[in-house]
Amino acid sequence: MLALIAAVAENNVIGVKNGLPWHIPEDLKHFKHLTMGKTVLMGRNTFFSIMEILKKPFPGRTNVVISNNPEDKMPQGAVLYGDLEAALKDLAGKDVFVAGGAMVFAQMINRVDRLYITHIHKSYEGDVYFPKIDPAIWRKVKDEPHEGFNFAEYEKI
Ligand SMILES: NC(=O)c1ccc[n+]([C@@H]2O[C@H](COP(=O)([O-])OP(=O)(O)OC[C@H]3O[C@@H](n4cnc5c(N)ncnc54)[C@H](OP(=O)(O)O)[C@@H]3O)[C@@H](O)[C@H]2O)c1
Repeated sequence: MLALIAAVAENNVIGVKNGLPWHIPEDLKHFKHLTMGKTVLMGRNTFFSIMEILKKPFPGRTNVVISNNPEDKMPQGAVLYGDLEAALKDLAGKDVFVAGGAMVFAQMINRVDRLYITHIHKSYEGDVYFPKIDPAIWRKVKDEPHEGFNFAEYEKI
């Protein structure tokens, strides 16, 4: 299973200054619930923003990080790949969630089978954006309303 998980503002912003522009505890719980025990695949910027907040990789999950400088030392629980294709090859057959950021979402949106998107009902100032969810490619199969956001799921048509 290859899926993508993201929280996206009304204006498609997903981040600012290498962090999230919002704090939505329910969405963090949703992320944890879906990804626990699975593999999360992310770019180096996202990984280091997580390290700043949690001081460790996402616990209970295999953290796979991609960087063009694969010499960086990784903490326990995280593996670094210098090549996205090599990472995907090694992860074949595993349950993998592509977890950002913008650069990695852009490369992966056409390669995953399912999108888990938290649509936040507000626009934010930011510097990174989610790619367009093309309705010719993606069919919304779930849309669960919450106060200020929706948990949506999309399947590839
Ligand atoms: N709202 C959300 O759901 C969500 C989720 C995740 C992240 N975010 C936000 O997104 C922002 C970070 O996104 P970003 O686009 O700046 O960075 P990113 O995608 O997290 O990481 C980009 C880095 O990953 C490495 N990389 C990407 N593609 C690669 C490839 N094909 N091969 C090898 N290395 C590759 C490169 O690292 P090197 O420079 O080391 O080569 C690149 O600079 C932050 O603001 C974060 O908070 C939001």
